Amino acid sequence: MSAPLANYANEIYLQGLGDVVPAFTTDTSRLEESARSVMEPGPFWYVAGGAGSGATVRANREAFDRWRLVPRMLRDATNRSLATTVLGTSIPAPVLLGPVGVQSIIHPDGELATARAAAEVGLPMVMSTASSYSIEDVAAASGDGARWFQLYWPNDPDVCASFLRRAEAAGFTTLVVTLDTWLLGWRPRDLDQSYLPFIRGTGLAVYFSDPVFRAGLDKPPEDDLMAALLRWLPMFTGTDKSWDDLAFLREHWSGPIVLKGIQHADDARRAADAGMDGIVVSNHGGRQVDGAIASLDALPAIAEAVGDRLTVLFDSGVRTGADVLKALALGADAVLIGRPYAYGLAHGGQDGVRHVLRSLLADLDLAMALSGHRSVEELTTESLARG
Ligand SMILES: Cc1cc2nc3c(=O)[nH]c(=O)nc-3n(C[C@H](O)[C@H](O)[C@H](O)COP(=O)(O)O)c2cc1C
Repeated sequence: MSAPLANYANEIYLQGLGDVVPAFTTDTSRLEESARSVMEPGPFWYVAGGAGSGATVRANREAFDRWRLVPRMLRDATNRSLATTVLGTSIPAPVLLGPVGVQSIIHPDGELATARAAAEVGLPMVMSTASSYSIEDVAAASGDGARWFQLYWPNDPDVCASFLRRAEAAGFTTLVVTLDTWLLGWRPRDLDQSYLPFIRGTGLAVYFSDPVFRAGLDKPPEDDLMAALLRWLPMFTGTDKSWDDLAFLREHWSGPIVLKGIQHADDARRAADAGMDGIVVSNHGGRQVDGAIASLDALPAIAEAVGDRLTVLFDSGVRTGADVLKALALGADAVLIGRPYAYGLAHGGQDGVRHVLRSLLADLDLAMALSGHRSVEELTTESLARG
């Protein structure tokens, strides 16, 4: 049996004997604050900012605070395991790295550093369509690590099919289709600084390296960025697809398909009816619809509606081990983390991401042990009380 995830705490304390302290905080709920001191304002607010007034960013966190874990004693939690299998991917804990685009604005190694750290820790990485490195380069960095591919569904079906072909060939096993971002939300933090990485060609490596995308250009993006941007823009935004269109993805992807951005039980039922394999209950970290409900508040009804038909993943607001336990208790099979690992990347590239992941997993393992749970299946609404 592998060492408990909680052992990261012992490692840190032992290093203290040599006067070594962690490079940055182990408190994964305080990473935004510490990242602010190491990031430029443009990238910092691109990551931290939300839609409009930020009401949904705040709501995502407040929803976690309204639930409390109820610790139980003498339950033999010494022998515990967080290991699980999600859509055929075995993982040491029910945590995945959610898709975060344009990571080169956070650290020059961007998605490559994230892929390496995820593989080291054994967690799957969900690579974004809006990555700063190509599908093939991220796959190479991920090596033997588990990897899923997130699709911003291009309006050009040939380009879409090409992305899916490349992702499958590069060893990405599950497709995560993001439905909530067919337009970018109103993001005052970025608007006030006129900051959008894409219009400088950053975060478009998946497109710019694509043979079908390139075939539609007179000159390659390296020689004529503006023409490449003009081809990219209408492809990326502006068209809200319909449920019937999902058949196209099924035709072009042989593995599991997950719909990301579900917040209503009826949409979750439709996903199941459409033959999808899973959903991510997510509001994109409050970056799209200001004033939308907290993602955690949407979770119980959705899990109740489709938990027996679909894999239910969750994101938006997960910061600590206790947060993971709460989401699992409310019906999630696993969670995606977003901003916390992005802040780790800002602090120290691959090492920074690894530190955040190991901190979160150790915190999660300890929270599970000390609250008297031995496996993820034991987490139910019985494990919680209203705070
Ligand atoms: C900087 C940034 C970039 C993101 N890029 C993407 C993306 O390319 N594709 C996607 O589906 N979601 C993207 N997301 C949303 C995340 O996958 C996830 O839903 C969100 O971060 C969850 O909220 P949290 O980080 O506050 O927990 C992004 C989020 C952030 C913060």
